[in-house]
Amino acid sequence: MCGIVGYISKERNPNSLRLGLEALKRLEYRGYDSAGFAFWDAEKKEIVCQKSVGKIAKLEEKVNGNGNKPVLANPIILHTRWATTGEVTEINAHPHSDCAGKIWLAHNGIIENFHVLKQKLEEEGHKLSSDTDTEVIAHMIEKFFSGNLEDAVRKALPYLKGTYGLVVISKDDPEKLVAAKLGSPLLVGLGENEYLVASDPAAVIAHTKKVIYLDDGEMVSISPNSFSITKGYNVQQKKPENIEWDMEDAQKGGHPHFMLKEILDQPESINNSIRGRVLAEEGKARLGGIRYIEDKLREVEKIKIVACGTAYYAGLIGKYMLEEYGGVPVEVDLASEFRYRKPILDKKTMVIAVSQSGETADTLGAIKEAKEKGAMILGIVNAVGSAIARESGVGIYNHAGPEIGVASTKAFTSQVTILALLSLYLGRQRGLSLVMGQRIAKEILSLPGLVRETLNLNDRVRELAGKYKDYDNFLYLGRKYNLPVALEGALKLKEISYIHAEGYGAGEMKHGPIALIDENFPSIVICPSDSVYDKVVSCIEQIRCRKGKVVVIATEGNENIKKIADDVIYIPKTLEMLTPIVSVVPLQLFAYHMAALRGCEIDKPRNLAKSVTVE
Ligand code: AGP
Ligand code: GLU
Repeated sequence: MCGIVGYISKERNPNSLRLGLEALKRLEYRGYDSAGFAFWDAEKKEIVCQKSVGKIAKLEEKVNGNGNKPVLANPIILHTRWATTGEVTEINAHPHSDCAGKIWLAHNGIIENFHVLKQKLEEEGHKLSSDTDTEVIAHMIEKFFSGNLEDAVRKALPYLKGTYGLVVISKDDPEKLVAAKLGSPLLVGLGENEYLVASDPAAVIAHTKKVIYLDDGEMVSISPNSFSITKGYNVQQKKPENIEWDMEDAQKGGHPHFMLKEILDQPESINNSIRGRVLAEEGKARLGGIRYIEDKLREVEKIKIVACGTAYYAGLIGKYMLEEYGGVPVEVDLASEFRYRKPILDKKTMVIAVSQSGETADTLGAIKEAKEKGAMILGIVNAVGSAIARESGVGIYNHAGPEIGVASTKAFTSQVTILALLSLYLGRQRGLSLVMGQRIAKEILSLPGLVRETLNLNDRVRELAGKYKDYDNFLYLGRKYNLPVALEGALKLKEISYIHAEGYGAGEMKHGPIALIDENFPSIVICPSDSVYDKVVSCIEQIRCRKGKVVVIATEGNENIKKIADDVIYIPKTLEMLTPIVSVVPLQLFAYHMAALRGCEIDKPRNLAKSVTVE
C-alpha cells in the first residue's frame, strides 16, 4: 500500500513540484488517507515540507493556496498514505523527519520493531512527534549521519525489522536522492536529464519507459548526473527493462471509472492473456514462461495454490480445472493462512502464487516459506517485474494490462483463463485426449467473443441494479465451478458499494444460511445449464418457498428457469470449466451499477488499497 515518488533532475526546474504531484496521483489507488511532499529548495537553503489529510487534491489546494509561485524543488519526495501504524492525521502523514528537520523520508511498509527502536531513540534524547512506525527510520538515519546520506541510510537499515520502500533526502547532503527496498516495491525510472523513483511504473511512464526494478536489500543513491545501486557495499550492475504498456492504458479512456473501463476491456485482456498460447490443432497450450521446467512439471504430484482476495477465488476455480482436466490433486490456501500452518511440501509439490499486483505481502511471504521447504514455485502474475514474479523465478504473466480500479475485474478473468491454459498444458502431459484438448483449446479461443457478447448485458444489469438498489443484504450462491464465482460476486458488491453480501455454496444453504431468507434478503444464484444444474434449481426452490427473491444467472435458451426466478440474466453457453469467465461478468456489472446508484467512490473504495504490501 501507499504510493511513493522521488524525483531529481540534472537542471533545477520550476515544474518539478507539479510533475511530482502528477506522478503521485498515478499512485493514489495504492492508498489515499493522507499525502505530503518534501523538497530541497536550493535558494532558501532549506527543506520545505507540506502535508495534508485526505486525497492528493487536498494537498494541491494547499500548494495553490501558497500563491502557486514556482519553486525550484530538486530533489523532491512525495507520498500518498494507507495508514498501518498511527491514526490518519496530518502529523502522521509522510514525509517524516529527524529531530533537526534535516533528514526527510517517505516509507511504504511496516517497521515491526519500531516500538523498541522508538524507546531507545527517546532514551538517547531523540524527540519523535508522530505515532507512526516510519518516523523512527528518520531518526535512525540521523544517528548515523556524518555528511554522506547513503552511508547513513546503509548503516541504519540493518536495525529495521519489517518491510520498507524508502525515499530519503537531506539538507546536509542536498543534491542527492537515496532510496532503499525491502519487501515493498520500488523502481528507478531513467528519464532524459531526470531520474524518478516510484512504487509502480504508472508514476514514471509519462517520463520514461526505461526502468530498473530494485530487489530486496538494494539501495540506490541518485545525484543530478548519475546513480549507483548497491547491496550492502557491493555495487550492483542492473539491466534496465522497458515498461510494456502505454500511458493511455493507464487512463480511463472516456469511461467514468477505471473499474468500468477494465470490465469492458475484458475481451481484449483475455485475448492478450491467450495470445500465442493456444495450439488449436494439437489441442495444447504453449506457455513460454514454463518451457524450461516442462520435464519437472511431469513429475509434479500435487499442487498448492496460494493467493488472497479475488486471486484466491480464481485459485479455487483453478482447483476444479486442474483436478478435472490437469489430473493433479490441488489444495488452495489463503496466503495469509498458508505460512502460519504447517503445510506438507516437498520437491514434487508445485506451489502456484496468483497475484495481480505481484506485491501482496501475504502471498510473497507464502512462496518464500514454500521455497524454504523445497517446493517448486510458479507465479501467475500481472505486474511484470514485481516481487512475486521475481521471487517465483518461473511463471506465466497475465498480460492483462495495468489494473487501476481497486476492485479486481479483468485480472480475475485473466487469472482463470491462465489456469485453464495450465490445466490444458498439464492435462495433455498426463493423458488428456487430443479430442478433448482440441475442444478445450477451441473454447478458450472463443472466450473473448463470449465475454464481448456478455457485456451486451450492461443496460439490462443497470436496470436490475435500479430494482435492487435499496436492499442492504444479498446472498450469492453457486456450485462447483461457480461457487468461487459466488464468493467473487459477493466481494465485488461489498468492496465498492459497502452493501453486505455473502457468497455461499448452493448446497450449503440448507445447513444454516437459509435462516436469513425472507422478502428483504434477495439471493443471486449462478445456475448455468451444467452438471449440477438440477441441484442448484432445488436450492432456488428452497429459497422461493420462503418468500426469498431470486435473481438467476442462467444459460441462454433456458426458458424454464423463468418459472422460479424473479429476474433472469442470460449468459452464453460454454464449457463448464470456462463458465466462470462468463458468469462473473454480470456480477461485476451489478456491483458497479449498485455502487454508482449509491454514489460510492468506485475506483478507490473507503479503507481499501489496490496492492496490500503489508501483512
Ligand atoms: C479484489 O477486488 C481486492 N481488491 C483484493 O481482494 C485483491 O484481489 C487481493 O488483495 C489480492 O491482490 P493481488 O491479486 O494483487 O495479490
Ligand atoms: N507504516 C507506514 C504508516 O503507517 C506506511 C504505511 C504504508 O505503507 O502505507 O504510515
